[in-house]
Amino acid sequence: MYKSHQAMPDVEVLSSHFPIPGMGLLPVNAFVIKAKEPVLVDTGTGIDSEEFMKALASVIDPGDLRWVWLTHDDADHTGNIQKVLEAAPSARLAANSLAVLRMSTAWPVPMHRVYWLNSGDSIMAGDRKLTAVRPPLFDNPTTIGIYDNKSQAFFSADCFGAILPSPVQNADDVAEGDLAQGMIIWASCDSPWVHMIEPGVFRQSLDRIRQIAPKMIFSAHLPPAQGKMEQFLELLAALPTSTPFVTPNQTALEQILAQMKGDG
Ligand SMILES: [Fe+2]
Ligand SMILES: [Fe+2]
Repeated sequence: MYKSHQAMPDVEVLSSHFPIPGMGLLPVNAFVIKAKEPVLVDTGTGIDSEEFMKALASVIDPGDLRWVWLTHDDADHTGNIQKVLEAAPSARLAANSLAVLRMSTAWPVPMHRVYWLNSGDSIMAGDRKLTAVRPPLFDNPTTIGIYDNKSQAFFSADCFGAILPSPVQNADDVAEGDLAQGMIIWASCDSPWVHMIEPGVFRQSLDRIRQIAPKMIFSAHLPPAQGKMEQFLELLAALPTSTPFVTPNQTALEQILAQMKGDG
């Protein structure tokens, strides 16, 4: 179920959430940056396609979009990419080259509309510069977040996501303990390589975000978070030496199915 809300004067959030049995829910967000050349950041999930397209149309006429920026080619970010490109004939598709090539194995990506970006590259969206920034945590090699120099917001892809107890519109609405626990569990599941990395090296990648100093963090998997960069970076700094989270196994699945049967 997608809903839209304005998080900043020029940023709209298209938000949904996925239940994680026994644990809570995972927010799934896409964003519209109302730049002079409007930008859609990610395209939601395919399972809620109709609602996603409705939520998008409620904040902007898709025909006005000039850019569709894919942070990476995971299914929870590319769910409506073909529909969006059809509805937005003037939009170019900004993404990492590997994301585009991988998607080309599933559907015919219109290459003449594509714009390839590596971390550090930028596009001008009329009234602002959008710079590709690889976030400190990612689950896919094609990941490029966005730093928007006008709103001073960092669109961080999967990084800073959290499994939460209930849906909320703002990260401030989550109890601090729940947020910390949910973020650590998500990070450990989604980027398990973090447990193999030397803590000092990981700290350097956190410091790169610290230097950018975004005022707002728009994660694909967390409600919008204002002024929380330092808190989040400190939380993540503990990850390399923390105990890896073990994802549920078949025994857990059988318990979940038995519970669902009982509830039904
Ligand atoms: Fe991902
Ligand atoms: Fe994701």
